[in-house]
Amino acid sequence: MPLAIIPRPVSCIARDDPFVLAEETAITCSPGAEGAGEALRAVLGPPTGLRLPVRGPSEASRIALSVDPSEERLGEEGYRLSVNGADLQLRAAGRLGLLRGVQTIRQLLPAEALGGGPVPGPLSLPGVEIADWPRFAWRGAHLDVARHFLPLPFLLRFLDLLALHKLNVFHLHLTDDQGWRLEVRKYPKLTEIGAWRRESMTGHPWEGRFDGKPHGGFYTQDELREVVDHASRLGITVVPEIELPGHSQAAIASYPELGNRPDAPLEVATGWGGGADVLNVEDATVEFFRDVLAEVLDIFPGPFVHVGGDECPKGPWRQSARAQAKRRALGLADEDQLQSWFIAQMGSFLSGAGRRLVGWDEILEGGLPPGAVVMSWRGERGGIAAARAGHDVVMAPEGRTYFDWAQSADPREPVAIGRPGERVTSLEDVYAYDPVPDELAPAEAAHVLGTQFQLWTEYMADPGHVEYMAFPRACALAEVAWSPPEGRDLPDFISRLDAHLRRLDSLGVRYRPLGGPAGG
Ligand code: ACM
Repeated sequence: MPLAIIPRPVSCIARDDPFVLAEETAITCSPGAEGAGEALRAVLGPPTGLRLPVRGPSEASRIALSVDPSEERLGEEGYRLSVNGADLQLRAAGRLGLLRGVQTIRQLLPAEALGGGPVPGPLSLPGVEIADWPRFAWRGAHLDVARHFLPLPFLLRFLDLLALHKLNVFHLHLTDDQGWRLEVRKYPKLTEIGAWRRESMTGHPWEGRFDGKPHGGFYTQDELREVVDHASRLGITVVPEIELPGHSQAAIASYPELGNRPDAPLEVATGWGGGADVLNVEDATVEFFRDVLAEVLDIFPGPFVHVGGDECPKGPWRQSARAQAKRRALGLADEDQLQSWFIAQMGSFLSGAGRRLVGWDEILEGGLPPGAVVMSWRGERGGIAAARAGHDVVMAPEGRTYFDWAQSADPREPVAIGRPGERVTSLEDVYAYDPVPDELAPAEAAHVLGTQFQLWTEYMADPGHVEYMAFPRACALAEVAWSPPEGRDLPDFISRLDAHLRRLDSLGVRYRPLGGPAGG
């Protein structure tokens, strides 16, 4: 079997002698390698039916996982894998590197071994010497569960699929105009009211069609902790996003005092496109969202918290005498600065708690809180400006990383954002993307933490459709984010992808066929 590893390892040399799994094979782990050992047993056990006991390092064994400080030069996620007729050795400086190596081992198996059931044995792994580490520290996937609520088991499965591709950041877009999906104990109406909308737009906004069916759902805090735990076992960081001050109509529908027109109540938005109001700039509203973030911090232990900041409608502030009085009292020149003030309130709360604020590139417009990370979505301009100003950046430009765009101009593609043929991000477009713009000097480029794809779900009502839009473009993005740019080769990628799709078949992933929407 030719090796078809995605993302492509830094260095990979095939050997002639395969490693055959046998009845007596055990997995030995040095201290710190036990979690990866259990992960490897979960990979190798079901297809072989072998016991594969996980043991301490003193026992003789043919599979050895070790945490080895001398591998520190491979970085936090790097690993070294040696497979030959005698044994299989995986070494890394720490747990994360071992977990990435386990995913490589998974891809050395025959594709049918990923299916969860036994395969006719004995199972063997091709001989290989691999040294591997990522290009970027942030290799992410964004998932919007606000526009369409997606069930908890799907989130867990999606995390498994991210891990298979060595993606390590799960950006969970939890709130928007059309739904609030996170239980907040202090403010129960956010989910009693905000998690439910009367109906949903179907088709494109210009068609003005609605389905007449209530839609909604939310995750309890315990369920979100389960997501965090599962992600952690896979070496994935979860970045929760609470959108403010725009895209917050579901919160305003739940607590009208958060908006600018408490006398004119809003419902949770049913159509796509911007909401009708924005959070007001009262101290009580800032306090409300500090309370919300306090609960968010309790659930999500990771270093980053995303507060949105994009597409903030500023008209309601212009028209509100109270917002204007506040702006003047704060000595702010305009509504852009008022938005920055709001974001800065959240930024100081988060930095006081030892976390870093992440926001879409609009947060640059009226000045940025120190330490903030800019997620550049309106092309790369925002990311370039932020990197030049010394801020860390995640590149997420629409034209290359928005997977709500259609995968081709074929009119048989399922409904996506934009008119047919108007917004297309093909697999090849994603594969050709480079997250470091040429115009950045090396010191500025060092601020590019990485890249991620976005799955906005206005036009994805269920897990199957999400998978169709995510794959195989996610495979390309993973390679962009992990593999060295030298040696990027589209035909080689496509031929590895052909083999990789057999793995996705075994996993039941409902990806878009390479031949097009009709599978031809
Ligand atoms: C965005 O797509 N509004 C971040």
